[in-house]
Amino acid sequence: MPTHQVAALRELRATVERSIGPVEAPIGLVLGSGLGAVAGQIENAKRISYADLPHMAASTVPGHAGELVVGTWQGKRVVALSGRVHYYEGHSFTQTVLAVRLLAWLGIDTLVVTNAAGSLTPTMRPADLMLISDHINLTGSNPLIGPNTAEFGPRFPDMTAAYDPALRALALEMADKHAIPLHQGVYVGLTGPSYETPAEVRMLGLLGGHAVGMSTVGEVIAARHMGVRVLGISCVTNLGAGLGEGVLDHSHVAEVAREATDRMTRLVASVVGALPELPVHARAK
Ligand code: HPA
Repeated sequence: MPTHQVAALRELRATVERSIGPVEAPIGLVLGSGLGAVAGQIENAKRISYADLPHMAASTVPGHAGELVVGTWQGKRVVALSGRVHYYEGHSFTQTVLAVRLLAWLGIDTLVVTNAAGSLTPTMRPADLMLISDHINLTGSNPLIGPNTAEFGPRFPDMTAAYDPALRALALEMADKHAIPLHQGVYVGLTGPSYETPAEVRMLGLLGGHAVGMSTVGEVIAARHMGVRVLGISCVTNLGAGLGEGVLDHSHVAEVAREATDRMTRLVASVVGALPELPVHARAK
């Protein structure tokens, strides 16, 4: 329902600006598993719980708090989504990208998305980081399905360089400079919430994937639709089913993500700190 989407976003943006004033942040952060600590490092932070924002669904996943945080980090104005909602929680695909659309309408130029993912290759191990070079959307859906909302972007957005080449180059440069090991690869997005079978993990590897997860692809499609540049980084929490010993367990996934937090945070911090001055856009109508 595009009309509803536009109306919802207008109301959302107005609520944010009424409670904390103009946001004017060129950088948006989706703090997925492994980057939650950033929310506590933002200086002069103004916070709004998703529960106090109209139309925003609260996440039901433990470890995904659910608040919007605006302030300064690494000397840059940022607006962060601490916690995201997933398709598998029962929300529509459109609902899962509402917060990213809000960031675009608040004016961000660049979005940094992070997530937890399973490795599809034995060379990428738990607690490793992977720079997302591209994705394969195997969710069977797309947040742009339905009449196109021209206020957001074109009907058929290009996805050739969905993960911005200049941002990727900067991330690689910063990883090298700070001696943070960083793989590169293709992220496969599935709905979950069941983990994959070993046969599916083998298939996803054959299809060209390097990591698999249950988020991100919808957010990136919505961001690209609105002309936002994207940098994506996965925290590898486990070997995909069948590639390692034992079975997969969310509490273990969350624990490894916490372990990798420090490296993920340092990497993203160095990238954000090194970003040139970016424009704040006036996208909203
Ligand atoms: N599969 C899907 N999503 C995940 C995984 C996985 O192995 N690990 C963390 N998120």
